[in-house]
Amino acid sequence: MTLLLHLADFNERRWADRFAEALPGHRVVTREDQYAPEEIDYIFIWKPKPEAFDGLTGLKLILSLGAGVDALVRHPRLPRNVPVVRFMDDELVRQMSDYVVAQVTMHQRLGTRFRRDQQAKRWSQLYPRPSIYATVGVMGLGQLGTDAIRCLKALGYQVRGWSRSPKNIDGVEVFSGAEQFDAFLAGADILVNLLPLTPETQGILNYDTFSKLKRDGLDGWGPVIVNAARGGHQREADIVKALTDGTLKAASLDVFEVEPLPQDSPLWALDNAYLTPHIAGASTERTGVQYFAEVIRDFEAGKPIENIVDLDRGY
Ligand code: NDP
Ligand code: OXD
Repeated sequence: MTLLLHLADFNERRWADRFAEALPGHRVVTREDQYAPEEIDYIFIWKPKPEAFDGLTGLKLILSLGAGVDALVRHPRLPRNVPVVRFMDDELVRQMSDYVVAQVTMHQRLGTRFRRDQQAKRWSQLYPRPSIYATVGVMGLGQLGTDAIRCLKALGYQVRGWSRSPKNIDGVEVFSGAEQFDAFLAGADILVNLLPLTPETQGILNYDTFSKLKRDGLDGWGPVIVNAARGGHQREADIVKALTDGTLKAASLDVFEVEPLPQDSPLWALDNAYLTPHIAGASTERTGVQYFAEVIRDFEAGKPIENIVDLDRGY
């Protein structure tokens, strides 16, 4: 059995060596190696190039390094009869919840306001409202959203959630579908995005959405967004406008319409925007190889595989 690595921006050789150790009896090749495309059984992929699947006529599984599979799902030459398995493990979930908790807590404590004061050497007391009076609205109640909610609730935040299908989550007001989106937004102080990027969710973080968030103007509060999902969810021109005119009080962005974020993006200079370079959560060589070697072993043993993407749904 042969595994091909197709990892833009990663050191394929190092990943290949780790896979070879974890999968004795398998051949592991990178795009630099000599191989016959029709002999490839599995492809492990991130940021697929247009030619990624050309000639792979014997493909049995597509293994996505990303938990988010938007680039794969919209690939025009994706062989849609081959199952796509996405990465997911406890460490990734934990990293993402760490990121969400850090951002929500920072904003609830008015972090960008006090950073601005510090830069201006201004002593200006304002007591942040306690977490129990803050409502966090989480968009996307999947593997990541559900755990982020669990962590936020443990800290005392009020939490509401929004998903495509209705759900019951203990102690959380859950909204679903486009028809309940505005009601969901109306009660959220801090909006956290953990949706997959699909045609329905593209551009959902826009000015109209921001203007529907809760705003009571008390204690220095104002609507905040945290986007840890995909840059395609956000309209950056709208974010800049909203952060400048007060429609948004602050924002934390881990992902961008174009990555790396271009030098001339006005977001860099906004002191109420907190930017990170797409590091909220990721697999490592250790966790990625461990997870996908197990997937391959299970597949070859005829065992059921988890985290298979529904290509029609897009996530
Ligand atoms: P899941 O597939 O487990 O969950 C997706 C959730 O979004 C589900 O609750 C789903 O609803 C909901 N959803 C999908 N479409 C809609 C819609 N149109 N309207 C309302 N709700 C919708 O995803 P994960 O939690 O695993 O991951 C979420 C995203 O996080 C990934 O797709 C990826 O883009 C991003 N990510 C970012 C990382 C980073 O470093 N910044 C790292 C890892 C992931 P339902 O339950 O009804 O199906
Ligand atoms: C992912 C990511 O989707 O790191 O896993 O963005």
